Amino acid sequence: MSEDRILRVLKAGDLDAIVAIDEKASRQSRREYYERKIALITDPTRSINSSIVAEIDGRVAGFIMGDVYFGEFGIPETTATIDSLGVDPALQHKGLASELLDQFMMNMKAAGVTKVYTLVNWDDFALERFFARHKFVPSKRINLEFALP
Ligand SMILES: CC(C)(COP(=O)(O)OP(=O)(O)OC[C@H]1O[C@@H](n2cnc3c(N)ncnc32)[C@H](O)[C@@H]1OP(=O)(O)O)[C@@H](O)C(=O)NCCC(=O)NCCS
Repeated sequence: MSEDRILRVLKAGDLDAIVAIDEKASRQSRREYYERKIALITDPTRSINSSIVAEIDGRVAGFIMGDVYFGEFGIPETTATIDSLGVDPALQHKGLASELLDQFMMNMKAAGVTKVYTLVNWDDFALERFFARHKFVPSKRINLEFALP
């Protein structure tokens, strides 16, 4: 039986499905983070909503969340970030994350974005390999941190 796959813009009602996928994929519960994040990305007064979900047979199976920056942080070019990417572990290795990323990149190109940034934990080898396979390379921008005592 063939499955019915679609990609569509992420909406506020996707919160529960996204929290559940992230809980399974990353073994963390981050409802508050996603509540705040989804409220921001679905606020039309703030920016364009660049985030996408993949549905299989009517159920959310994966998501990509990002943001577009028009000249913030003293950087003159239009850039974007990918803040979260997740696919239900039961539905991984079917090309879903690749489809989400390809669609995100197409939308970003149409929006005039010249560079897309993402952060990966140094020991998250699976995610790093995924981005490397999709032609991401180490950035010239350095990620600095300061641990507050
Ligand atoms: C990394 C992640 C997004 C990849 O999702 P995915 O949908 O499985 O990705 P894809 O199917 O596009 O690619 C994954 C692998 O499946 C393979 N694949 C793709 N389509 C395939 C198919 N039809 N048949 C068999 N294998 C396939 C790819 O070659 C790829 O191999 P690689 O990992 O060795 O490069 C997913 O594993 C994930 O959600 N990980 C957790 C990330 C996380 O912690 N997120 C928290 C929020 S940031």
